Amino acid sequence: MTVVGPFGVSVRDTALDAEIRAGLAAVEAGLVEATKSDVPFLTETAQHLVRAGGKRFRPLLTLLASRFGDPDAPGVVPAAVVVELTHLATLYHDDIMDEAEVRRGVPSANANWDNSVAVLTGDFLFARASAIVAELGPQAVRIQAEAFGRLVTGQMQETSGPRPGQDPVGHYLDVVAGKTGSLIAVSMRLGSLLAGVEEPFVNVLAQFGERIGVAFQLADDVLDIASDELESGKTPGTDLREGVATLPVLRLREMAAGEGPAAAADRELLDLVESDLSDDARHAEALARLRRHPALAQARRDALSFADQARQTLTPLPDIPARRALAELCDAVADRAV
Ligand code: IPE
Ligand code: IPE
Ligand code: MG
Ligand code: MG
Repeated sequence: MTVVGPFGVSVRDTALDAEIRAGLAAVEAGLVEATKSDVPFLTETAQHLVRAGGKRFRPLLTLLASRFGDPDAPGVVPAAVVVELTHLATLYHDDIMDEAEVRRGVPSANANWDNSVAVLTGDFLFARASAIVAELGPQAVRIQAEAFGRLVTGQMQETSGPRPGQDPVGHYLDVVAGKTGSLIAVSMRLGSLLAGVEEPFVNVLAQFGERIGVAFQLADDVLDIASDELESGKTPGTDLREGVATLPVLRLREMAAGEGPAAAADRELLDLVESDLSDDARHAEALARLRRHPALAQARRDALSFADQARQTLTPLPDIPARRALAELCDAVADRAV
């Protein structure tokens, strides 16, 4: 048994494992090349997070999706570079919005330099992603543009919150499908399309991406509460400190709306969670109490349920090693520690 991918996914197929590794190495070279500028300082800021690592989850999916067609087709590796560059650009911008200080285990660009440097570097990465996707043809450009539009819309919906009377969990799942599911769906869509996969299977693979993407983000929300910085490379409790009500907090709100002594205790915790957590001691207390709360366990189950739905999406696809690898990824994503 060999291991491929970011969560120690086992692929019981040595040939696939070796080919995915080779593909990911080509993606790395492409990322370094795409982030070079004539201005040395811009190369430094753009390569700051490239060299810091990251799971390369989206390129991995692009490469796995290409296995349903011709994985050696010339557009596959550039497509994987495009989705990772697009993701990377959003990370530079996201860390400004979240006032995050750590990313991929190193200081975020906004912390290391300042917000202007982080904005401009993100824009530069978008520009480079656009230049590469242009080489892949107008259909690829349209697909990337639509995903990016959905991503930004999801982020904006997170900022604006639910409309009056809208179910908060439903709203949040829309946010997550937009801000994270869209680009992960496109990672699968571009990988399969450029490998010449037939359209019905391309759509199945993209739908798989959307669902595993939602599971991936819900697991990230759990990790914001449950993990430590050494594992995640990010500061725990960032969502709480920024007052972003992710699924664990929404589940706590539902529980606090009930009756009886448990609900009264839940309301007390909710008051703490929703208060000003700029004070370190209060923030640490909120985080510690949320870690042991059933609302966090419920959010974990929610992530698992989306991962299950993603796995079921795979049914119409041919039973090749890549399909088995995608199925194993479903288990790993919802249960991940990084
Ligand atoms: C972080 O993405 C932002 C989310 C959508 C959860 P990743 O967890 O893929 O971050 P890296 O690329 O591994 O750093
Ligand atoms: C951001 O979600 C998703 C993006 C589109 C960048 P998060 O704010 O949860 O991402 P992290 O936790 O900072 O990586
Ligand atoms: Mg963030
Ligand atoms: Mg997060």
